[in-house]
Amino acid sequence: MIVCVCRRVSDREIASHARAGMDFDDIQFELGVATQCGQCESCARDVVAQCSATHPVAAIQLASRIKESAAWNSSPSASA
Ligand code: FES
Repeated sequence: MIVCVCRRVSDREIASHARAGMDFDDIQFELGVATQCGQCESCARDVVAQCSATHPVAAIQLASRIKESAAWNSSPSASA
């Protein structure tokens, strides 16, 4: 699933980097996530936090949280 629409960064890419030991700042620099509109930052940070070595069950919890996120409602009227 795409987390960062602006930079086309998926949760899998973020999780892979997080599992490799990178923190959010490193991942942001590497992938460019959350460097344009910023709408994805909280979701991206959640992925990093939940996929770090101390939280191995992140992907299971994350999927439902991303689907529920209002930040990704693409309807223009939803933001008004
Ligand atoms: S969606 Fe990630 S910077 Fe815009």
